[in-house]
Amino acid sequence: MRRILVTSALPYANGHIHIGHLVEYLQTDIWVRFQKLRDNRCIYICADDTHGTAIMIRAREEGIGEEELIAKMQKAHVDDFARFDIQFDNYGSTHSSENRELCAEIWASMRAAGLVSQREVSQLFDPTAGTFLADRFVKGTCPKCGAADQYGDSCDQCGAHYSAADLIDATSTLTGAKPEVRTADHLFINIEKLHEFLDRWTKGDEHLQPEIANYLAGHFLHEPLRNWDVSRPAPYFGFEIPDSPGNYWYVWFDAPIGYMASTRQWCDTHGEEFDDWWASDRTEIHHFIGKDITYFHTLFWPAMLETSRYQLPTKIHIHGFLTVNGEKMSKSKGTFVCASTYLEHLDPAYLRYYYASKLTNRVDDLDLNLDEFVARVNSDMVGNVVNLASRTAKFATATGLSEKYPDDGGLFDQAAKDGQAIAEAYESCDFARAIRQILATADRANQFVEHNAPWKLRNDPDKARQLQDICTVGLNLFRQLAVYLAPVLPRLAEQTGELLGDPIEHWDQSQQPLTGTPVGKFKHMMKRVDRKHLDAMIAASTEREPANESAEPVTDSGQPLAAEPLAETCTIDDFAKVDLRVARVVAAEDVPKANKLLKLTLSLGGQERRTVFAGIKTAYRPEDLIGRLVVCVANLTPRKMKFGTSEGMITAAGPGGKDIFLLYPDEGAKPGQRVH
Ligand code: 2FM
Ligand code: ZN
Repeated sequence: MRRILVTSALPYANGHIHIGHLVEYLQTDIWVRFQKLRDNRCIYICADDTHGTAIMIRAREEGIGEEELIAKMQKAHVDDFARFDIQFDNYGSTHSSENRELCAEIWASMRAAGLVSQREVSQLFDPTAGTFLADRFVKGTCPKCGAADQYGDSCDQCGAHYSAADLIDATSTLTGAKPEVRTADHLFINIEKLHEFLDRWTKGDEHLQPEIANYLAGHFLHEPLRNWDVSRPAPYFGFEIPDSPGNYWYVWFDAPIGYMASTRQWCDTHGEEFDDWWASDRTEIHHFIGKDITYFHTLFWPAMLETSRYQLPTKIHIHGFLTVNGEKMSKSKGTFVCASTYLEHLDPAYLRYYYASKLTNRVDDLDLNLDEFVARVNSDMVGNVVNLASRTAKFATATGLSEKYPDDGGLFDQAAKDGQAIAEAYESCDFARAIRQILATADRANQFVEHNAPWKLRNDPDKARQLQDICTVGLNLFRQLAVYLAPVLPRLAEQTGELLGDPIEHWDQSQQPLTGTPVGKFKHMMKRVDRKHLDAMIAASTEREPANESAEPVTDSGQPLAAEPLAETCTIDDFAKVDLRVARVVAAEDVPKANKLLKLTLSLGGQERRTVFAGIKTAYRPEDLIGRLVVCVANLTPRKMKFGTSEGMITAAGPGGKDIFLLYPDEGAKPGQRVH
């Protein structure tokens, strides 16, 4: 039996879990459940990542202490994970006594190995907030191209990288104050001393996916490694470094040690030896992380472990980012969906299945295509798998399964053999391949049921035996699928166990048919995805972009979005102030640099022309608008936007994206007429 310790990256305590995070937690949970089903000894360890400036600032903003904030967030995280059936063996916190002790121990090892040095560092300081500023808390004008509103480390207009101190007219995003340059002593780890070890470790023994090993070789390990700055001066929410008062370990020092601290908590509550898990070469250690934090886990973390007395990771499994409909998740498009919002609208099993069907062992991004999501869940899971049970179980409840497993033309044996390839696909984290194989097995089972049509035999007493045999085969083939899918769909496995009176707990249950046992009453197992619920989830996740930041409102109509609560009432006098006019679109062109904007020229009758920027590009082509009548708000104060001044607004309905519907007056209306 293998002993396997598995972790997912520790989520930051300053934000809620969203569907992007869930790619990783579901991937890890599926892998862990698979290992447990294979009778390996496996524990899944995680914790909240609680330290750093962002938490400190958020706590200040909310007017609460950091500890109160992190307790509140931990509760929310734990709740979201549980509702997605993500089952940790221990969920800890980096702000724990176990973590503080382990940090001190590993720090002492690094000191003893002569890896720590001290140097003065200049950094921007916000005199109003009384804190040093990380790059993302400083904004100013790019020193290279002059673009305004750029963050402290790089310019998103010209791509230049610079130091925050070089920004022109820098301001602190925390308080708006002008930052000062101040100096402070920082502690550094001389990681270059471990260069040779890291060369060897990153290339050897398949610890990393090949593309990651190549990336590290080409981007970091081809030249001397720079010293790693591991301390931050007060004020900082974290652990004070015992031998350097007034300095705190940088959050990325104590975060991965949090994996160990959470394991220690689990060991203490389960009577286990910590060293059996972190200091034994009999234990495999698997980290699942996203590609953005590769560098910390593949260079610093192995360096920390190598210097202390602990085991190195067996494998670091790195996944890509989530895109939705081929684009980055977006609040204004409603695709930045929080876990809790998802759960208000949809069954967690859908997302578990959909992600599993797309996840491979490569670092590629994973696209959640909403149409495909509906199609896959409905046809693969409900149509292909669950239907097998619903079409057979109801005829077997009265008789139970046949005493002897009937001749099924070799289908059960074939599916039992398929188990080997399916297990290999799970083991290598190629869940998409596992799912393809499971679906092929399900297809064969469906053909059997289709061909034997048990529903045609139900009223023929002479065929009762034959009906029982067909259902015995159908239900056993279904049960094999439920075992193979158990890591992905634990609730389906549970329901199958209840239906057949035999809980699914081991992979090997797929190898022997059940016979002569009762069949329970069939209960609905999984509903089809209703597109309406998916759309409602997107509408509920759609946020207005803050007016001062947005050059591109989702719709120019000021968007009362679908499913948004109704606005406050206004009097007829208030409404009369809005001068709505019929207008004809006389010209329409794309604004190439904007994602959503079209530039429209409107005629309001006579010579009067208006330029209006409308956020409708996702739903309309400019050429389709020319000549059409629209309803426009004619007395809106002109608004200066990035691409010009908008002298009004056209009205539309809908949640955004492709669903924007311009309000068109009847063709009989005349441009310039007032709309009442
Ligand atoms: O990137 C993140 O979300 C970090 N909170 C992950 C930390 S993982 C580990 F090192 F603790
Ligand atoms: Zn620039």
